[in-house]
Amino acid sequence: MSHSPLVIAIDGPAASGKGTLARQLGEHLNLPHFDTGLTYRAVAYALLQANLPLDDEELAVKTAANLDLSKLDRNILSAHEIGTAASKIAVMSRVRQILVEAQRKFAMTPPGAIMDGRDIGTVVCPDATIKFYVTASPEIRAKRRYDEIIQNGKSADYEEIFADILKRDERDMGRKDSPLRPAEDAHLLDTSKMSIENAFQKAIDLIEQAVAD
Ligand code: DC
Repeated sequence: MSHSPLVIAIDGPAASGKGTLARQLGEHLNLPHFDTGLTYRAVAYALLQANLPLDDEELAVKTAANLDLSKLDRNILSAHEIGTAASKIAVMSRVRQILVEAQRKFAMTPPGAIMDGRDIGTVVCPDATIKFYVTASPEIRAKRRYDEIIQNGKSADYEEIFADILKRDERDMGRKDSPLRPAEDAHLLDTSKMSIENAFQKAIDLIEQAVAD
């Protein structure tokens, strides 16, 4: 008997709690987790490291094609500024094509995967077993990002982070190719209205139901 891979799509804006939810689900279900934001971050980081501009599509395409996507270092790539740079790279269709192909391959490899990003339910894995759209108000997301930076012993300015979050939403939701939006069949989890623990429990219940169906 052959089983198609179990693919759980999780999309949402920056600092919505989707990464935490995806990691927890991965551990609970014993499924590999692919944080697709890291692939865009890796392209941006490689360009920044080489002192190259972030708005040259040819350079970004070459950089994406030469990246080893099996070696993505979250410790290096998770910085707030790299997220902003990644969002600029993410408007380029040819870069997206290269990264989406690698992401799909990962998702379709048995036993499947928890995929988190911006366009998983709409573009990367439209046939996912189940889809979630995790969101929260910009104020709450900015506060989470601020607390995270402070906890890591660095300094941060809440107003600056709030402005960055709004700009990032605008860029991610406003781009032509694969804009951030909930898939029509996605389950909405608003983490301004529930804790991450409650979101996790609700997600588990919905996954069990989807798998049983
Ligand atoms: O989830 P993140 O903050 O690591 O993502 C960084 C940027 O990468 C995000 O602002 C837009 C882009 N991105 C994307 O366009 N599509 C994805 N599937 C994941 C991330």
